[in-house]
Amino acid sequence: MNLRLALLPSIGIAALLALPVLAQQVPVQPVPLPQTAAQSAFAQPVASTGDPDARADALIKQMTLAEKLSLLHGHYPNEMPVRPEGVTKSAGWVPGIARLGIPALRMTDGSLGVAAAHQFDNPATALPSGLAQAASFDPRVAFSGGAAIGSEARAKGFNVMLAGGANLVRDPRGGRNFEYLGEDPLLAGIMGGEAVKGIQSNHIVSTARHFALNAQETGRKVLDARMTEQDLRESDLLAFEKLVEIGDPGALMCAYNKVDGDYACENRGLLAIPRNDWGWNGWVMSEWGAVHSTVKSAAAGLDQEMGEELDPHVWYGQMLADAINTGLVKESQVDAMVHHILRSLFAHGVMDNPVRQDGAPNLAAGAKIAQEAAEKGIVLLKNSRNLLPLTASTSHIAVIGGHADAGVMSGGGSSQVKPAGVQALPPPQVKPSFIDNIYLDPSPPLDAIKAAAPAASVSFNSGSDILDAVAGASSADVAIVFATQYTTEGMDAQMKLDGNQDALIQAVAQANPNTIVVLETGGPVAMPWLDKVAAVVEAWYPGSRGGAAIANVLFGRADPEGRLPVTFPYALSQLPNPELPGSLLPRPDRSGDAQPEPFAANYPEGADAGYRWYAKRGQAPLFPFGFGLSYTTFSEDLTAFDPASLTATVSVINSGQRTGTDTPQLYVSPPGGTKRLVGWAKATLAPGQAATYTIAIDPRFAARFDLRNRQWVLPAGTYVLELAASATAPGVTMNVDVKEIRLPSNWRPRDGLAPVALEGQAAPAPAAPPPG
Ligand code: BGC
Repeated sequence: MNLRLALLPSIGIAALLALPVLAQQVPVQPVPLPQTAAQSAFAQPVASTGDPDARADALIKQMTLAEKLSLLHGHYPNEMPVRPEGVTKSAGWVPGIARLGIPALRMTDGSLGVAAAHQFDNPATALPSGLAQAASFDPRVAFSGGAAIGSEARAKGFNVMLAGGANLVRDPRGGRNFEYLGEDPLLAGIMGGEAVKGIQSNHIVSTARHFALNAQETGRKVLDARMTEQDLRESDLLAFEKLVEIGDPGALMCAYNKVDGDYACENRGLLAIPRNDWGWNGWVMSEWGAVHSTVKSAAAGLDQEMGEELDPHVWYGQMLADAINTGLVKESQVDAMVHHILRSLFAHGVMDNPVRQDGAPNLAAGAKIAQEAAEKGIVLLKNSRNLLPLTASTSHIAVIGGHADAGVMSGGGSSQVKPAGVQALPPPQVKPSFIDNIYLDPSPPLDAIKAAAPAASVSFNSGSDILDAVAGASSADVAIVFATQYTTEGMDAQMKLDGNQDALIQAVAQANPNTIVVLETGGPVAMPWLDKVAAVVEAWYPGSRGGAAIANVLFGRADPEGRLPVTFPYALSQLPNPELPGSLLPRPDRSGDAQPEPFAANYPEGADAGYRWYAKRGQAPLFPFGFGLSYTTFSEDLTAFDPASLTATVSVINSGQRTGTDTPQLYVSPPGGTKRLVGWAKATLAPGQAATYTIAIDPRFAARFDLRNRQWVLPAGTYVLELAASATAPGVTMNVDVKEIRLPSNWRPRDGLAPVALEGQAAPAPAAPPPG
């Protein structure tokens, strides 16, 4: 098909802003968001009243300089030598100003639940990892999870949640990949924005973080992440831009690392972008121990120094007062910094809905949401002979390894949540200094498998003795090997399973042709045994109810609807950096988080992170971005494209025998550029059922960023639209010829597009094959 379009040649900023608003024709979301269970179960609809800016200014007028300064630096209660009464161990605390009704800021990590390292006696819901949530490709999963953990944070007395991690996964070894939302800016931006929106629906503030380019943990506090602004704008910053647009986070946390020469927390160019181009007006808080100056930081746009116990000086305490006295920082600047904080507290309802310390978290509701998220994020990678789903009549199941009798793997670091029933395992041999143990979330898969197949004989073998495990597996109808990879903040991983699990899987697969591997990993791992096993299920870190979710997928009570939010490479040699930057540098000791001397980290993929890199290099990965099997089959078609609204129409038919969920993905290859995801649909269909969806393209996700003119540019030429089941699957294509289109750097979907003239008509789409 060849559709010729003539978009207006070039649109000036003024002209564009004067155009009628077409936002409803260019929706932000590819998936509509009905009111969710979480919204009704958790949101506390007390609207904040009045203009937040005016209310903030009125308060500032009444504040002394000392009071203003007191809001600009905050503590790390976990490390305070003496904690004031009423301050619990937690990530952050900034004293309030009682006489003005300004509440203390009580901050908790993190994106996956209320993380409080000490709180065995005060459990919280552990959501599945960020990658698991992203694998659902379902914004409702992100919103519901955010609403649930935000509600728990509020119930536990916190009014700021350190969540909203949207750094793109650039290397499968990144220690914090599990907290983030994958390698694609649209997916990460939408899921991050919905999570933030869910958290803030509880009238608490969420951050977005770690701004920006925290792509690895090795040397995270000293490295200089190098990337051109253009590449950044088209990748990590684009993810944050979308997140901010959808979620409007009250705060943004700058990262530890440098970005192109300057520490992120004192990087004027970087910190100006959200305010100047995205219309964001919250406050910038620092990472814990990431401030390196007073005057430079304040001038660059850092509003608040957090975790001051980790800094060599309290940069924003007496040192900021001195800088004001000597005229290096103006008091009006301090007022602006305080304004950013107070206006966010007003805008997000923190002032009008004060948190209390005596709430009761709704853990039962949280567990339900965590389980649903886990189920929706599980990815079926291989299913030879349709071995899965298992039926209740399978009579002998050998469950092996992965502590499947005790729980499911979780990731380590500040995001670690401790749900009721969490189990501690010894820490890894090399570990970050702040890690005490590896933790298993509850809900052992073994129990859930036994419950799903009550008539079966289900055995368990820990897998520590391979011969023993093989002996038990050989006579079983199926052998299910649970295989784990522990990853943590503060230390990068290897792209492989821990210990001798590869050998265990090889041996079990040799003994039993019906071997199923269930992976609980932080991110991609190598699979040297892939050809030998019958089925592979990626369950990530599946959270509080992970075991139940895994069993539901194994037994077909839930269709495996997850799709990979990251590419799984064959080997490290395929990566942009086969050797992780800084990994060979000497370090002062062997602890995982010991910092080497400062170094530059180059990311040669630039804007082309993840699948775009592999496409550019012509490399076939082990499993591509977007990949995932279902228990049924679908046929997908791209039937129309409307140039006025940049909206594609797609149809999906369930051509198999079971109800299942498809995720048809729309990619665009701009002229001379790599293929990018510009939208998707989620289609849950009964056998033979068909449905039609419209997918609105946000033009920034197919554009280049023109730095000189500070505009998004869709260069003239032929664009290939492709509807496909993954980033590499052959899909249905449509060629679209476009004349150059330009949008200002502060363009948002609600600004609409210039009217575009259609020169030709799309040829009718080929009829979808009949079901069956
Ligand atoms: C982590 C942040 C976290 C902070 C407070 C830092 O080490 O990198 O993600 O929010 O600690 O716990």
